[in-house]
Amino acid sequence: MMEPYKGLINQYGNFLPVTKQTPVITLNEGNTPLLKASHAHEIIREDLSLYFKFEGANPTGSFKDRGMTLAISKAAEEKAKAVICASTGNTSASASAYSARADISCIVLIPEGKIAMGKLAQAIIHGAMVLQIDGNFDDALKMVKDVVAKHPIVLVNSLNPFRIEGQKTAAFEVCDRLGAAPVYHALPVGNAGNITAYWKGYKEYQAAGKINSLPKMLGFQAAGAAPIVLGHPVAKPETFATAIRIGNPASWKSAVNARDESEGKIDSVTDDEILEAYKFIATREGIFCEPASAASLAGVIKLSKQNYFKKGDTIVCTLTGHGLKDPDSALRTSKEPIKIKAELSALEAALKGCCI
Ligand code: F0G
Repeated sequence: MMEPYKGLINQYGNFLPVTKQTPVITLNEGNTPLLKASHAHEIIREDLSLYFKFEGANPTGSFKDRGMTLAISKAAEEKAKAVICASTGNTSASASAYSARADISCIVLIPEGKIAMGKLAQAIIHGAMVLQIDGNFDDALKMVKDVVAKHPIVLVNSLNPFRIEGQKTAAFEVCDRLGAAPVYHALPVGNAGNITAYWKGYKEYQAAGKINSLPKMLGFQAAGAAPIVLGHPVAKPETFATAIRIGNPASWKSAVNARDESEGKIDSVTDDEILEAYKFIATREGIFCEPASAASLAGVIKLSKQNYFKKGDTIVCTLTGHGLKDPDSALRTSKEPIKIKAELSALEAALKGCCI
């Protein structure tokens, strides 16, 4: 019988800073689907090979679980009593779930009114102390950095190196499934931890002889929150993709480094472009991701229109979080249900011209 999958510390422990003494706090994160696009030719040139790495299939519905299994396992190893993070929602959802399992107190700081409902519900139901601040993510991040400098609380934002270590395993999985690195890897950029993590993962896999080539990293920020593209912090970042509504990313330098070393690109996409990609992924690919996730595909569509890619290029887009986290965005941007009487004739009238 095949060994059941036991999470990414078990799977990729050789590449991670763990020892036999590390208590493994896992929800069997990782091992997420790599899906070949079914209708890519409708949006990008047809001689490209497009894949989606659907990170919404992680236990709390986002890629954050990869970093959190490691950050919380290491916090447990150090006998930490409490962890803290600033978050646009997904980090707080993941931190609260893994902390609950590890019996560690969890405190999350979120920007008031700008976090998707599902993410807020997750932090609350897992029993975290949820603090809504009258400021944005950047303000919250500064506050948690200041508090951990003074008090014995472990920071579990991606400034915590264990977060990046865990998240790099997504690059391993892509290579294991494709049998090689893709030519391009596209992902949304917010606090810039994930692009940093993927690049580290690809480089380590190459050093270990698992792959021969490295991908070019493509990062996409929302146009209203694009500090790296603009070259300066954005004081009041705005985008409907609230997960990446960040004006001063913590991993700014390492993201630029990933871009430059890989000879890739960090660009911006408008909310309209993100929305178009979000709708396409749902209606044509059958995958429900959250708005921020769609920035990866929006960027690939933009670059394809500029003839950036070459025939036969393999492109992987990371879809970072599940669409169910943010039902409001889905409903707000779609048609309302059609109301009909509970009668066959009403049903037939509604179906006329559609399928009967
Ligand atoms: N996509 C989603 C769904 C996210 O939640 C985030 C970040 C990103 C992309 C960007 O990743 O920050 O590594 O560049 N969310 C963080 C949070 C900021 O608090 O949940 P990044």
